Formats: sequence, structure tokens, C-alpha cells
Amino acid sequence: MILEAFHYAASWPLTPKPFRVHIASSISLLARANRCRSAWAEHEDNSKAHVLSAVKNLKQRRTAVVLGSGLLRDVPILELSRAFDTVVLVDLVHLASVRAFLIVKRLSNVRLIWRDLSGYEEAVAGQVPEPLGFLRQVPYLDLVVSANILSQISVGARWRLKAEGRSSEADIVLPALIRAHLDGLAMVSAKTCLITDVSYCTQDKAGKILEEHDLLAGVPVPAHDRSWDWPVVPFEEAGGAYRAVHRVVAG
Ligand SMILES: C[S@@+](CC[C@H](N)C(=O)[O-])C[C@H]1O[C@@H](n2cnc3c(N)ncnc32)[C@H](O)[C@@H]1O
Repeated sequence: MILEAFHYAASWPLTPKPFRVHIASSISLLARANRCRSAWAEHEDNSKAHVLSAVKNLKQRRTAVVLGSGLLRDVPILELSRAFDTVVLVDLVHLASVRAFLIVKRLSNVRLIWRDLSGYEEAVAGQVPEPLGFLRQVPYLDLVVSANILSQISVGARWRLKAEGRSSEADIVLPALIRAHLDGLAMVSAKTCLITDVSYCTQDKAGKILEEHDLLAGVPVPAHDRSWDWPVVPFEEAGGAYRAVHRVVAG
């Protein structure tokens, strides 16, 4: 708890004002990721391997952009930094620990951008969101990685709609945001790599499915090369009662 408070305080001045509201959730994600380290390891390794397989076939390696870079747990940042002239990490939050890691590892070609990648404002205004339009301005772009962010865009937007008393708009806004991200990636002329959880189920100890949920708000699962299970909430995390397993696709 003390460490978390210290981390929060250290991240506060490093974070642009409009994004400070997201520091706490990033710190709680870090705490959960540490508690679930062994359960999440295979998912993190699979995600990194998928990105690296995309890099292998690239003719040019000038700029790579990682959307939803977060805690850099599922991003092979050391290899990306070595392979590319510039790596741009885009997220709502870049915690102090992430910045310290980049400094200690001397990854001086890594840039940080704070940005809301949802397109929420346009969607609730009835416009077609274009949250990845900024990628057109990135010079020498050779790779874009969407790193386990897509389902979280929908989760964040659902909370925001609720807080603004607009939950009734969820059926329109959430699929629009998911589609906007997928369409945005499809428009990029560079190589793209999408890794996202698409659904989850809860199971009891006997393996019986208790609940199943779509994480893409009804949008069809995008074409992919690989898929795997990610035990986001292992039994220990849920006090032994159940576990939540997310289905991840990578393409
Ligand atoms: C499940 S985490 C991804 C983990 C991350 N790739 C890693 O390696 O640690 C989802 C990430 O998406 C970010 N995120 C969620 N909604 C976002 C939004 N609207 N705009 C930008 N980033 C967002 C969160 O801050 C978080 O870092």
C-alpha cells in the first residue's frame, strides 16, 4: 500500500493534468499483474512472440507505434527499441516505474505519448470516431501494435457513459468505438499487429462454465492467426470460488 502510494505520487507530476485521473487504475493493474504473475506469464509471452514474429518480416524498421503500451508487460520493448530507429508508446498513463525502466535500460529512442485512443468524444457527439487518424502524421511508420487495449476501450467507455447518465447509448457507442479501432488499424499503410481479448467466461473448479461474455460489443471477432486463453482472474485471485478466462486473438 505504501509502495503504491509512493508510485502514485511519483507518477503524478510526470503525467499531463487531463490524464492524472487514470493513474490509480494503472497502479491497480500493476498490483494485479504482480499478484497474477505466473497465471499471466504465458499470455504475456505469447503476445511478445506475436509482435516479434511481425517484426521479423519487416523490410524497414524505422518507427514502431505501440497502442496501449501500459506497463510494458506484453510488449517486447527491449527488442523493439533495438530493432527500430524510434518506438512510440501511446497510452492514457505511463507510470513512473515504466519511465524509470526506460531510463535504466537506456532506451533513449523510446518516446511517450499520452492520448485517449477511444474516440469517445466523437462517438457520443454522433460523429464517426477516427481515434487512430493521428497515425497518418507519424513519419516513417513501419509497425503499429495494438497491445491488449481494444476491449479496455469498451470497458472505459461503458464506465464513462454510466458516469454521464448515458448508459442507454452503450449499444451504439461501444460497437462504434470497437469498429473505429479496427477500421483505423486497417487504414494504416504500415504493418499492423492486433492482440486483443475478445470474450471471457467464468468457470468453477470442475471446469463448468458459469458465465460467458463478449468483449467486443457484438462486433465480429477480427481475422487472426493465433488465439489462446488468458486466465485474467485465476482461482487464487477470486478466493478459490471461480476463475475468469479471457480468449485472446492475435493477427
Ligand atoms: C490490459 S492493459 C494492456 C497492457 C499493456 N499492453 C502492457 O503490456 O502492460 C490496457 C491498456 O490500455 C490502456 N487504455 C485503456 N483505454 C485507453 C484509451 N481510451 N486510450 C489509451 N489507452 C487506453 C490502459 O491504460 C492500459 O495500459
